[in-house]
Amino acid sequence: MSQEKIEKNVGLLIVCILLAVIWGGIVEILPLFFQTSTTTPLEVNGVTVVKPYDAVRLAGRDVYIREGCYNCHSQMIRPFRAETERYGHYSVAGEFVYDHPFQWGSKRTGPDLHRVGGRYSDEWHRLHLRNPRSVVAESNMPSYFWLQKTAARDTVGKDIVKKMQTMAILGAPYSNDEINDAALALEGKTEEDVLIAYLQGLGTALSNFQ
Ligand code: HEC
Repeated sequence: MSQEKIEKNVGLLIVCILLAVIWGGIVEILPLFFQTSTTTPLEVNGVTVVKPYDAVRLAGRDVYIREGCYNCHSQMIRPFRAETERYGHYSVAGEFVYDHPFQWGSKRTGPDLHRVGGRYSDEWHRLHLRNPRSVVAESNMPSYFWLQKTAARDTVGKDIVKKMQTMAILGAPYSNDEINDAALALEGKTEEDVLIAYLQGLGTALSNFQ
């Protein structure tokens, strides 16, 4: 079939484009469902280091999503020197197996947060979330002062048991006790508390081993 023939026949061109896209998709996407590196939690020296989110962090993750933090923050460190020098070890697929949906983001108005866990104290995060300018003078991050006023169990924690059961269906190996005690774990915690717990856990599975 000559090039000219395809280019002059729109129907044929569309069919050929579709075939090329389908083939490219199969070759690029399908293997990811079967590779251990993308489907199993990250192991370091034979030890599984990535654990599913506990009840508190899972609720904190929902605050992160609800407040749209992903609009300004990515959680994906690319394997380039400029990124690893600034943020730490590049992100690997096995770190995201319990992220449904993942929070890679696509825009960096603020810095990448994938390895922010443990970089600052809880107290720093509290001050920063209430008024970012109090710790970073030139910051244009919005303040989230209301998070300290709402009990997590009234909002993001309301259906925590069901959320954990759903995560279990998606592959998180929770024990029955962890699921049953989920509501208890959120007792007395504010939205700010659970969000900070989530942030403090980010990326630590791998950075703890460096
Ligand atoms: C409008 C964009 C924007 C939004 C939305 C936003 N941030 Fe930020 N964030 C920034 C900018 C800019 C910085 C850098 C200046 C600073 O540290 O405040 C930053 C910094 C941070 C840092 C410090 C990172 C570091 O490595 O120093 C954390 C943690 C953080 N943001 C968490 C959050 C969380 C959690 C949310 C959602 C509740 C959020 N951000 C929403 C723009 C944003």
